[in-house]
Amino acid sequence: MTNDENTKPTAHIGKKILVVGATGFLGSKIVQNLVLEKNTVVRAMSRRCASAGTNTALEWVKGDMMDPTSLDAALKNVDVVISSANGYMKETLETDFLGNKNLIEAAARAKIKRFVFLSIVNCEEASSVPHFHAKKVAEDLIKASGVPYVFVRAPAFLDQSSDYIANGVKSGRFYAVGDMTTKWSYVMTDDLAPCLVKAAIYSGEDINNNTIDIGWSDGPKSQKELAEIVSAVTNTKLSMWVVPWIVFHLFKYPTKLFSELGYDLIQMFLFFKKGSFVSDITKQERFLGSAPTSKGAITRWAESNKLKP
Ligand SMILES: NC(=O)c1ccc[n+]([C@@H]2O[C@H](COP(=O)([O-])OP(=O)(O)OC[C@H]3O[C@@H](n4cnc5c(N)ncnc54)[C@H](OP(=O)(O)O)[C@@H]3O)[C@@H](O)[C@H]2O)c1
Repeated sequence: MTNDENTKPTAHIGKKILVVGATGFLGSKIVQNLVLEKNTVVRAMSRRCASAGTNTALEWVKGDMMDPTSLDAALKNVDVVISSANGYMKETLETDFLGNKNLIEAAARAKIKRFVFLSIVNCEEASSVPHFHAKKVAEDLIKASGVPYVFVRAPAFLDQSSDYIANGVKSGRFYAVGDMTTKWSYVMTDDLAPCLVKAAIYSGEDINNNTIDIGWSDGPKSQKELAEIVSAVTNTKLSMWVVPWIVFHLFKYPTKLFSELGYDLIQMFLFFKKGSFVSDITKQERFLGSAPTSKGAITRWAESNKLKP
């Protein structure tokens, strides 16, 4: 038994799945993948009202992670929860602490059969990074709640809603942070979303109470290696634009005075510098299928961004 804890007894995994964070950059990709699954009813949660249109496999529910009553209503008759919601990027870190706590308590009240929680690789080593620490706190609350869980731990997204790497390639640049040699792990959100769906619909109970890192089959990459792959795949000569580590050290505390998010991101990059932001993909390959290669993932990303010659 390789589970994090002893396997808890669960009933058969049912078919109604609530996606929390369904309107987000990643969350909307989770919904898109989930509605393709047969025999699954997808309930998508947002603080705003939305319409399912003609898609009968998708129903929308209004819910706010800061409002427990709305969560009880959203979780009614739900079997599985997938949550990729967060507030630290666009609103407030309170969502990542109190909002997650509210959601976990509501999931326990609703006797959810599986909670698939999007977490972050090695977050237990990164208490200095506020939003990484929030993931670890949420993981601990889920474990303590007794709700069967799967923690899908993502490394750095290579693509972002505002894709600075794709934009850089278009102007012949590769933007990098710190140094060119430290390796860390990456994922494309188009590859991550199906992993969360597979974890939700996986029929065996053996997946319950596992922490699953996501990454590439050929391991972590330095930014030099990454730039070389992007350059080869896009057939573009790239000049390196590097923000040195000293800048992060110098601006860390001044930034804290006026930007919670800026401080959080600086602390994140300084954590990356340690070299431990690395996925162990053993459980990914066991439960969710083969991990892609870096070249395969970057080639698909280049195609979707029209960066291929
Ligand atoms: N970027 C990276 O490199 C990286 C790496 C590892 C992990 N991650 C994780 O990946 C996830 C990113 O997801 P994303 O791209 O979909 O995020 P996003 O685009 O920032 O969307 C945020 C989502 O959270 C929901 N939300 C925020 N506050 C809420 C509240 N109070 N109640 C209910 N819903 C709330 C929003 O819903 P409404 O506004 O519709 O209510 C929205 O759907 C995060 O969990 C992040 O920590 C990111």
